[in-house]
Amino acid sequence: MRLSLLLFAASASTLVVGQRSKSTRTTAKSSLARSSTSTASAAESSSSITSSRRTRSSDDGSANSVSAKTTSTGSSAPASSSSAAGATSCDVWSKISSTLSGMFSGCNDDSRAAIRAVFHDCFPDGGCDGSLAIAEELNRPINAGLVRTVNKLKALADQNSVPVADMLMFAGSAAVLSCPGGPLVQTFVGRTDASSPAPDGQLPTAEATGDEALQRFKARGFSANDLAALIGSHSTARQFTTDPSKAGASLDSTPSQWDITYYQQTIAKKSPFTLQSDASLANQTEVGPIMKKFSTSKSAWDSSFSPAMAKLEQLGASSGLLDCTSALKKSRSPRDAKSAPINARLY
Ligand SMILES: *[C@@H]1O[C@H](CO)[C@@H](O)[C@H](O)[C@H]1NC(C)=O
Repeated sequence: MRLSLLLFAASASTLVVGQRSKSTRTTAKSSLARSSTSTASAAESSSSITSSRRTRSSDDGSANSVSAKTTSTGSSAPASSSSAAGATSCDVWSKISSTLSGMFSGCNDDSRAAIRAVFHDCFPDGGCDGSLAIAEELNRPINAGLVRTVNKLKALADQNSVPVADMLMFAGSAAVLSCPGGPLVQTFVGRTDASSPAPDGQLPTAEATGDEALQRFKARGFSANDLAALIGSHSTARQFTTDPSKAGASLDSTPSQWDITYYQQTIAKKSPFTLQSDASLANQTEVGPIMKKFSTSKSAWDSSFSPAMAKLEQLGASSGLLDCTSALKKSRSPRDAKSAPINARLY
């Protein structure tokens, strides 16, 4: 099912014209990414979901099939040493993981920004290509609040001679894991960095209606279930720009916990701050009932969130990514780990 969604997204993007001048990769990313972003970042720049497409080259097909394969099984590793980016070992990522554990200790502002950065990098045309770290893109108002963290991650990538795109995705997964209750997300490396910024104006806004958001996510290959799960990343989000007079307001009362309080409080209209787009999603015909389901089951949310986030992190990826999930390390306490989903305890 996911496979066909991705393929659909791919063909849809073929029809659209939207490009950036990137050499090696071209991709079709779906707008999905964005929503999750808005989720986490909702707070800051939350945007509604916008449809973005990009031009795809002839090798997109294979890239998409890789993504589809990995996300649908949730565990197969499309390792291929002949990939353009050429990642052949996860060793350097184990070392980077230790550094990130310190940076994200617990579930802090860097964690929140790193989670949001995944959406902001992946959603616009170009997919997850590290373009977010290019000054022209990073300094856009929509990315307010991400600058410090993204620059730290870019420096860490340079220091370790790894692609910035891989660093942003690996850090996003590490950040989710750093938040108590955060699930493990299958994480790949081997991307090629963009050399030019993504088009502006493609990130969703906090005012998008639920119908609009769903439509945009679907155009990117995501299902209503994916969107309902990704929006839950707002469990750890704070808003700064939607209502500057309440800068720092969190989207649920427990912004340092990866929990279902966000769903409960958004639905009941009892959260410290709720984005208009989130309230609309909670009432959207397809997404609303799923959010309701997640509001009563952390495990149901986790098992939908992990594959959706993995799919997001692979938007626009070229073929031959290497699975370095095992290099992720948890920075949570043993007690939290114990109550975490079983797959989150494997690493
Ligand atoms: C959903 O719609 C109902 C009926 O209009 C309204 O009472 C409720 O507050 C809405 N829920 C949210 C989360 O906005």
